[in-house]
Amino acid sequence: MNQAKNQPRHFLDIDQIDAGELRGILDSAKARKEARAGQPRGNTDGDLPLTGKVLAMIFIQPSTRTRVSFDIGMRQLGGETIVLNSDDLQLDRGETMADTARVLSRYVDAIMLRTKGHDMLEELVAHATVPVINGLTDASHPCQLMADVMTLEEHRGDVNNQVIAWSGGGNNVATSWIHGAAQFGYELRLACPEPLSPSASAVRWARDNGANITVTESAQDAVSGADCIVSDAWVSMHDDDEAAGNRHNILVPYQVNEELMAQAKSDAVFMHCLPVHRGEEVTAEVIDGPRSLAWDEAENRLHAQKGILTWCLG
Ligand code: CP
Ligand code: NVA
Repeated sequence: MNQAKNQPRHFLDIDQIDAGELRGILDSAKARKEARAGQPRGNTDGDLPLTGKVLAMIFIQPSTRTRVSFDIGMRQLGGETIVLNSDDLQLDRGETMADTARVLSRYVDAIMLRTKGHDMLEELVAHATVPVINGLTDASHPCQLMADVMTLEEHRGDVNNQVIAWSGGGNNVATSWIHGAAQFGYELRLACPEPLSPSASAVRWARDNGANITVTESAQDAVSGADCIVSDAWVSMHDDDEAAGNRHNILVPYQVNEELMAQAKSDAVFMHCLPVHRGEEVTAEVIDGPRSLAWDEAENRLHAQKGILTWCLG
């Protein structure tokens, strides 16, 4: 799992990085958040560790949180960013990701990619000579998991002792929660309809690495006595339209509403990476209610990105 010496420090997936390193990234994120509490967002951090560094951010798919949190995070650390949407690049005209990686590596100090196919991330990594950060693919969303663990611990203490229930399709965000179960030690119960079951290879890897993971089709069984219920959009950015109608049918029993929340612990919290579709995967009552951590998760994307950036580039 350790990356070879002299290789760039890529942040690609939660299962690719030692648990101690992941904990260190969170410790650094928390320390930076505390140190700048109450300061204007435009202020830089005191130590400016990324002065002179430039992060290129490639967006093949849209983003609000990932885009802005990495941009502001780099500024607060003293660095700069370049945003490259897919139509800004020559990719659409046939230039390969491999050549894009070779060229960008001559200009910038790190590259973040949000894309559809995980294979595109792998092509970038294979040819980049600078650190690469996975800003979401169809397979995983590791930066989100870091912010989510940080947020849960702020509200409920050490995640190691907690039971987390996922209710919905077994998608990219679910895979990062599965990886995290092995690395951070929480119990994870995934309630997913069979056609949208979570990544079997991720579950296998996590169990082989000590994770306590249950996969069920029953949302009620998964949430019973849980500390936290997590959900995500029924249709992800990479899902095609044809899949969408069917997902809306089979995911109805997995909606997180007050009735489902009532079956978790009385003080259980709700998490969602956003963007949310009120009335689909979660009701407005829950996402906008007092037990929702969604807005703290969104804020912590900023702090967690800074932990990731300093780890990759420090
Ligand atoms: N949660 C998340 O990644 O949001 P964006 O798609 O807006 O970046
Ligand atoms: N599963 C969602 C997460 C969005 C942040 C998607 O991939 O669209």
